[in-house]
Amino acid sequence: MTADKRGMHGIWSSRWTFILAATGSAVGLGNIWKFPYIAGENGGGAFVLVYLLCILTAGIPIMMAEVLLGRKARMSPIHTMERLTATAKAPRMFAGIGWMGAVAGFCILSFYSVIAGWTVYYTVKMATGTFTGISGENAGAVFSDLLADPQSLMLYHTIFMVLVGVVIARGVHRGLENAVRIMMPLLFIMLILLLGYSLTTPGFSQGFNFLFSFDFSKLSQESVVVALGHAFFTLSLGMGAIMAYGAYMPADASLGKTVLAVGILDTIVALAAGLVIFPIVFTNGLEPGAGPGLMFQTLPIAFGGLPGGVLIGTTFFVLVVIAAWSSAISIAEPAVAWCVEKGVGRGRSTFIVCALAWFLGIGTVFSFNDWSNNQFFVHVTPTVAEQADATSVQLPEAEWFAYADVSELERLYPPTESVNFQITGKTFFDVLDFLTANILLPLGGVLISLFGGWFLSRRSVADEARVNNTAIFEIWRFMIRFVSPAAVLFVFIHGIL
Ligand code: PFF
Ligand code: NA
Repeated sequence: MTADKRGMHGIWSSRWTFILAATGSAVGLGNIWKFPYIAGENGGGAFVLVYLLCILTAGIPIMMAEVLLGRKARMSPIHTMERLTATAKAPRMFAGIGWMGAVAGFCILSFYSVIAGWTVYYTVKMATGTFTGISGENAGAVFSDLLADPQSLMLYHTIFMVLVGVVIARGVHRGLENAVRIMMPLLFIMLILLLGYSLTTPGFSQGFNFLFSFDFSKLSQESVVVALGHAFFTLSLGMGAIMAYGAYMPADASLGKTVLAVGILDTIVALAAGLVIFPIVFTNGLEPGAGPGLMFQTLPIAFGGLPGGVLIGTTFFVLVVIAAWSSAISIAEPAVAWCVEKGVGRGRSTFIVCALAWFLGIGTVFSFNDWSNNQFFVHVTPTVAEQADATSVQLPEAEWFAYADVSELERLYPPTESVNFQITGKTFFDVLDFLTANILLPLGGVLISLFGGWFLSRRSVADEARVNNTAIFEIWRFMIRFVSPAAVLFVFIHGIL
């Protein structure tokens, strides 16, 4: 393994390219698909505020730490953490960050590719005019028909994974730089155009208020965990993706401004997506808590009603596909880079990683149809039926099952005159999503901040960061040592208990 100053995988051509690539990694389905739907499920306003706080107190400082660690060792996250842990004489557990990240990466890539497949499908539907003049109801039907059809889901999942593999096999900087350079500005233009449309809809102020009026009574403990987890997911943190990209960052580029730019861009795109989607939701009487289908049920209505909607809509979905593509590449890169360092060729490494993630993705494909009743962590919660008198009803005990067939449970717990049974669980997809975003990424993030804050000397960190402004450096170091780990651990421990 030869890791000279340039590393064995190459170097971005400039600081600007690193910004593009890191933005390409950060901006993706997390912003356009996931952020609006989880904001909708968690009641909007207060959730958005907590999410923004998490970005500021944990996301940005930890992102700086990840880039810094990557650039220090210039290797894949697994080898970077093994090497830095050894030289810093830190506990062995920190070497596990890279491994945990690789596991998280496989899980994320597996479902990310399935969802990205939906956007490929929607590109085709857009281009062929399916949505012209469509009603909210029919747009919903197009989406549920897709979910009900595992064969289509498999096809588009496969297409997307092949797209990802092709770019990775060519090497990240050659494959990625050009795609991102054209795509990012275009995506911004499209979002501004869509914002213009949503401003003209009667539901705009309601959508705006949903996102930005902070009603803390709607905020549950789980919502806070989800907000924190999403801060990591959306910035690609906690699993080594940004660390891997940091390893290709030019040695003389200053870290603070660069990372800040990426964080701000990512946040703007998420908020813009929310501001586009929620006005459409309220204008058309749709459900903000509709779940993973939210963007797929709303945006086609907007495009269907716009003059030139076929062209605009097709362009938009192409851009979402490219945004998802550039993110997916970064999810796979840590594992591929590790295989390459182990002496496996880049093409073969790519094939192994993508094939494994593709296989795991089958579980997500079936989560939306054949296996939708096969759920984990199923809770049966008895509630007093609406027509019953709450004071006279004796509720049975709540129960939970590690695994259950939900349709079976519904038969076993029919509603009675006085009691309803609320049955909630997680599908295979839900489990992967929860495990990665809400557990593995924050855990990885906390370990990274502890390592960067407590096991690397101030000298070595300051040298690597190449900060010109000592005040900013001091603030960052304080954040990474105290604030970020405290914030993550606080949310984490509360959420688990
Ligand atoms: N940040 C990406 C998004 O918001 O879509 C998703 C992602 C990329 C998560 C890379 C994790 C990762 F390592
Ligand atoms: Na993101």
